[in-house]
Amino acid sequence: MKLRTKVQLFLSAFMILVIFIINSVVYVLYEDQVSQSEMNRVKADAENIMEAIAQNSEAEIENQRLLQAFLPANGIIRIIDNHDQVIQAVSKEAEFYNWPATYSENETSTLEKNANDIPYVVVTMPLIWEDGSVVTLQLNEALYSMNDTLDTLQIVLFLTAGFMVFPALIAGYFLASYVTKPIQTLTNKMKNNPKDGKWEMLSMNRKGKDEISEMQHSYNAMITRIDENIQKQERFVSDASHELRTPLSVITSYAELLKRRGKDKPEIFDEATEAIISESDRMKHLTDQMLLLAKNQNQENLHFEEVNINSVTRGVIRSLSLAYKRNISFHETIDKEIKICADKMKVHQAIYILVDNACKYSEKEVIVSTADEGSQVSLSVTDRGEGLSEEDQKHIFERFYRADKARSRKAGGAGLGLAICHQIIQAHGGSIIISSQPGNGSRFTILLPK
Ligand SMILES: Nc1ncnc2c1ncn2[C@@H]1O[C@H](COP(=O)(O)OP(=O)(O)OP(=O)(O)O)[C@@H](O)[C@H]1O
Ligand SMILES: [Mg+2]
Repeated sequence: MKLRTKVQLFLSAFMILVIFIINSVVYVLYEDQVSQSEMNRVKADAENIMEAIAQNSEAEIENQRLLQAFLPANGIIRIIDNHDQVIQAVSKEAEFYNWPATYSENETSTLEKNANDIPYVVVTMPLIWEDGSVVTLQLNEALYSMNDTLDTLQIVLFLTAGFMVFPALIAGYFLASYVTKPIQTLTNKMKNNPKDGKWEMLSMNRKGKDEISEMQHSYNAMITRIDENIQKQERFVSDASHELRTPLSVITSYAELLKRRGKDKPEIFDEATEAIISESDRMKHLTDQMLLLAKNQNQENLHFEEVNINSVTRGVIRSLSLAYKRNISFHETIDKEIKICADKMKVHQAIYILVDNACKYSEKEVIVSTADEGSQVSLSVTDRGEGLSEEDQKHIFERFYRADKARSRKAGGAGLGLAICHQIIQAHGGSIIISSQPGNGSRFTILLPK
């Protein structure tokens, strides 16, 4: 069943239920009030008859005539003895004589219904009869007018209920359209997206800020994210294949050269094998880094433990100063050891990437320093190299981005190091700050929570 039909049905059913309850309450209250006042009136009549009979103790007027004088239009007055025998009865209608007559010593007033569903009041009162015995005066009165009034009320309430269902149905229709139209538009957009390779957004034509406009905003934000991610992925694949193609074509051309002329010219053998080995190393480095990037995407891969940041940094400096044959200074916090909760291998890798870059892209001294900053730990790598422009700083963490392509390629870089470092620090809930000026060196500062 469609949402529109469901909303319409629900609203109409709910309205009908509400109207039914209100009308029933109105009807019952009115019936109760009218029957109560009718009963009081008949009771007052019965008291008048009692008074008249008491005043007529000398039997100046014949009791039959006296009762006749008080007889209501639609009723019967009866005197009943203690054997349930009717001593006297007056009524204009023959059928009223069939109504039950019972002796009662108590004063009672009840509302009953006859076989034709007509309500009638029964009032009984004890009375001393002319022979001195206790008898019952019973006054019954059929409430034809009350019955008619209640019937009319019932019709009026039914008609109003019927008329009120119409506006409910119309309101349900408009409400359902108001809610389902944007959902329908969203569904159509989702079915058709992407259209001709382009991700289309929803047009924001709603005024105000309600749940539907929020849903449209969220959808558009999601589309923007998907589009960005797809573009990033496409860029990554094309960059990666481009990066792999260069060493592969070098390897192929040297292999072909060896095949063609290797036997005749043994002097090219060394050059070719060296080039092939160096290019395969490059490819290995590149594929390793790409694998790392793919793995790091998942935060669940982190294995948290207590890590002494100073000893990890010392390890990185030791291996890189050996590899680059350079002096790397370490200004560590001497007063205490800095311990954080992190993945040791990953933190090692992030520091390695920064110190490696500092060595690769500068010839002068490289300084590494750590500091305890309360809730977090900072680690800075400073070099006096060529520095980075503001534009480069904006893109430096993107995959395959290289500020100075020729230079970094010569240095053997694929442009993935900082992307990996950024990913690791982000997964730890930390951040990286760059402070650099072209020609004046750079400082990369990692901030990690403890
Ligand atoms: N300390 C630095 N000084 C100057 N430029 C830098 C520095 N660190 C990084 N860069 C620039 O940023 C680019 C991206 O660095 P990144 O570490 O991501 O890649 P890479 O060093 O080229 O290759 P990889 O680290 O993957 O082997 C580098 O190519 C380089 O141009
Ligand atoms: Mg690097």
